[in-house]
Amino acid sequence: MKIQDIIDSNLDFLGTKEINKYFSPGRVNLIGEHIDYHGGNVFPTAINLGTYAFVTKREDNEFHFLSSNFKKFGKRVASLEDMSYKNIDNWANYAKGMVESFVDMGYSIKSGLNILIYGNLPNGAGLSSSASLEVLIGTVLKEEYNLDIDMINIVKTAKIVENEYIGVNCGIMDQFAVGMSEVNKAIYLNTDTLEYELVPLELGEYTLVIANTNKKRSLSDSKYNERREECDKGIEILKNENIKFNNLCDILVKDYESISNLIDDKIINNRIKHAIFENDRTVKAVEALRSSDFIAFGKLMNESHDSLRDLYEVSCRELDVLVDSFRANGAAGSRMTGAGFGGCTINLVKTDIVHDVIKNVKKDYLNKVGHKADFYKVKTSNGAKKLESEDLL
Ligand code: GLA
Repeated sequence: MKIQDIIDSNLDFLGTKEINKYFSPGRVNLIGEHIDYHGGNVFPTAINLGTYAFVTKREDNEFHFLSSNFKKFGKRVASLEDMSYKNIDNWANYAKGMVESFVDMGYSIKSGLNILIYGNLPNGAGLSSSASLEVLIGTVLKEEYNLDIDMINIVKTAKIVENEYIGVNCGIMDQFAVGMSEVNKAIYLNTDTLEYELVPLELGEYTLVIANTNKKRSLSDSKYNERREECDKGIEILKNENIKFNNLCDILVKDYESISNLIDDKIINNRIKHAIFENDRTVKAVEALRSSDFIAFGKLMNESHDSLRDLYEVSCRELDVLVDSFRANGAAGSRMTGAGFGGCTINLVKTDIVHDVIKNVKKDYLNKVGHKADFYKVKTSNGAKKLESEDLL
């Protein structure tokens, strides 16, 4: 659907005043999975699929939200006096949480807005539609009210909203990638210090392909929080044994053997092992990319998936079928990306065979799983921003 058609068909909602337009990308993580809440290094990039907002000013203190993707929820209305979470508001809670946080932080927001949302990220696919929406709303508030807040603080606020208002105990990777990305770069982010580097995503003869299992990440939020709790138990055991570290990812691979003897519980041991080794793989993967060693990069992606499947146990049959099929069909690397339990894989494939690989994996997946997978070649994006007319051409 064309952007202008979406606006034109919702003019009764927006009114005829000046309409401002915004875009916020989704993200895909290349490597460094489930370690952004352990102070680890991660390597995501923003993609050109994401969430749009079309915004007009209101005279009163109400925020009116409408999503052209979720028409069934209708128009959601909340006043500046009460932005509290309500089940009935469904997707609009992500937006309300951002407004509430901005007000709580003391930013001057005296009147409301009409905000029409349109997203082209596949839903529940693990490409960060929620972070995309949160950072989008933060950007809208900054621009519409001319607020003195920079992107890094919008990113931090979005993470707090996800943790405290929505209740998912996520790390900062998604919001950071959505807010801080640049086109043709991936973000090498230290999630402990928030130091980061934008690394050119030069893939030589290779292409990155996202494959969507079309399996909704149901249960993922509760399982996500459960993994964190399991790691916390391991951290407590190590701290009681007087092992000194701030974050799990401070522990080096070379020290793993000695600390692993201290944790009898096999499951907890596995979770800790994943975090320590995944952090190491991320450092090595960024080095491999810098030296255009795509075979090494792909191998690290494979090892990452195997660890997420066997040690951290956040994969699922659909993801594994995709990964196995990509590998069997010649991908240099294939792994699940994001929280897991469904969602997408990210795959590194030689460009000259990408067409055939996708064709074969598509057939294989349909045969084995019984429903179709979708495929997208990765196109990178800048972080969330207000769109100028030339951006919309
Ligand atoms: C979700 C969370 C992120 C991160 C990933 C797993 O996307 O929102 O913070 O933990 O899962 O790497």
